[in-house]
Amino acid sequence: PKPLTPIKNFDEIEIGRYRLKTWYFSPYPAQLAKKGKIFLCEYCLTFTGCKTSLARHLSKCQRRCPPGNEIYRSKSGVCIFEVDGRKNATYCENLCLLAKCFLDHKNCDYDTTPFIFYVMCEYEELGAHLVGFFSKEKNSPNDFNVACILTLPCYQKRGFGRLLIQFSYELSRIEGKHGTPERPLSDLGLLSYRSYWTYTIMEVLNKLLEDCKNKKAAPKISLQSIANRTCIKVDDVKSTLIQNKMFSWYHGCYVICIDPEKIQAFLENKKKPRLEINPAKIRWTATK
Ligand code: COA
Ligand code: NA
Repeated sequence: PKPLTPIKNFDEIEIGRYRLKTWYFSPYPAQLAKKGKIFLCEYCLTFTGCKTSLARHLSKCQRRCPPGNEIYRSKSGVCIFEVDGRKNATYCENLCLLAKCFLDHKNCDYDTTPFIFYVMCEYEELGAHLVGFFSKEKNSPNDFNVACILTLPCYQKRGFGRLLIQFSYELSRIEGKHGTPERPLSDLGLLSYRSYWTYTIMEVLNKLLEDCKNKKAAPKISLQSIANRTCIKVDDVKSTLIQNKMFSWYHGCYVICIDPEKIQAFLENKKKPRLEINPAKIRWTATK
């Protein structure tokens, strides 16, 4: 059978100090791809077919961070830029080309005009090094708060994906919305979202239970109240509870049934130093 997406067209990307093996096809110009390796400027994402033309570019390129506005910076060295897909079309198109190397199913839209890109970097004196990003539709009728999401393979499995996801929900919180990622999700995307949803919901449930204990009040927990606290869309709250066997059919209707000890055990088990977004440091207001 014919593959649904074109076959991988080149093997390797060189960007900054990293060499990344590509996973999937990406529509870089055929004459560059046929050489097997593409060289990127890590700051403006301009691509070239050989090291000498990249060196020529680097000697002139003034850029040391993504274009757009820096809207977040933590002491731990993470910063996030908001880049408009219309105002900075070339940068965003280059970002999509790079992302497509690691995204199979999704037609990363190459018309970047309707999207905003939230680009995460690690900064040091030399500049801001690209870690990952997510894109978001400017006007999503479905409250999608993420279209595409990517952590560059050299930064994967270190908590940056979770950090990007957390950031996307913090933006939804500022907008006063409950958000959800655009479907379909890739296998890795689904793993990351499930992990984020479960952990975030467990934390909220634990807090709600503690509050009630302190106030000696009976806990009143609903899908809506969890959604309000987490900005995770009700459907995703529901599927997460079902998956964790915390939502069942009882006397003719569905009820949330939770075991406080199980929740505490879960959180205890997950306890590890992790990267967190500090919402107080986000410099961003929702545009109407
Ligand atoms: N195998 C098993 N679990 C994995 C995993 C892997 N390869 N990659 C991530 N996870 C789990 C982590 O264990 C973690 O869960 P935990 O906190 O409960 O341990 C969770 O997913 C998030 O991990 P994190 O390190 O924060 O994610 P990441 O920086 O690796 O980024 C993606 C996750 C999805 C953004 C990244 O894998 C990626 O860019 N993939 C390619 C593009 C893609 O598929 N994007 C999603 C499109 S919908
Ligand atoms: Na990963």
